[in-house]
Amino acid sequence: MQGKIRLALTKGRLEKDTVQLLEKAGLNMETIKNPQRKLILDIPGYPLEIILLKGSDVATYVEHGIADLGVVGKDILLEKPKPVYEVADLGFGACRMAVAGETSLCPDNKKLLRIASKYPRIAREHFESKGQSVEIIEQQGSVELAPLMGLSDVIVDIVETGNTLKANGLIVLEEILKISARLIVNKVSYKTRRIEVNALIDLLEKQVKIRR
Ligand code: PRP
Ligand code: MG
Repeated sequence: MQGKIRLALTKGRLEKDTVQLLEKAGLNMETIKNPQRKLILDIPGYPLEIILLKGSDVATYVEHGIADLGVVGKDILLEKPKPVYEVADLGFGACRMAVAGETSLCPDNKKLLRIASKYPRIAREHFESKGQSVEIIEQQGSVELAPLMGLSDVIVDIVETGNTLKANGLIVLEEILKISARLIVNKVSYKTRRIEVNALIDLLEKQVKIRR
């Protein structure tokens, strides 16, 4: 007996939609709706354990096989690629990775563009593919402040509703790519726990199709 399979979920932004999807798929999600700060949760009636993590740690847990599956944003998979299988686009968590800045800015005229971002790799690859030299200034959050304070010329960040940009007088200058939540699977689990892993993938994929 190998015991329950383990699913790592991203806390925060993706959490509500993920829980809703799992609930629609027929799983009892009561424990997770009232976790009382617990990070390991059992799902009554289904051989599944859920752990709650920050997005980039979800991918790490799945890479190392501590979690068999994970739900994580595509932004994280692109910024820190891991050797895991990406098996489904779950559709929710939809947003855009974009270059944003002040309306008056003409970034094309700059020899060396200073970019503030939580996504240094995505930012660098995007600009270097266009032949634009960049200095990346890595940020942990509140990235929108950087151009306002003169730390950078532009930012590369996630835009969902656009409210944060608007509230800070910034606009989207260029869209880089579309982002959404993905279901990932550990490569070994995909083989050794094929039946259980596929059962969960099927369950979720069915719901995603219904919701489309
Ligand atoms: C994210 C992102 C943007 C904002 C986009 O920040 O970095 O700032 O949300 O959402 P919107 O278009 O709906 O306004 P988050 O709230 O995660 O905070 P942080 O960047 O400070 O970590
Ligand atoms: Mg932000």
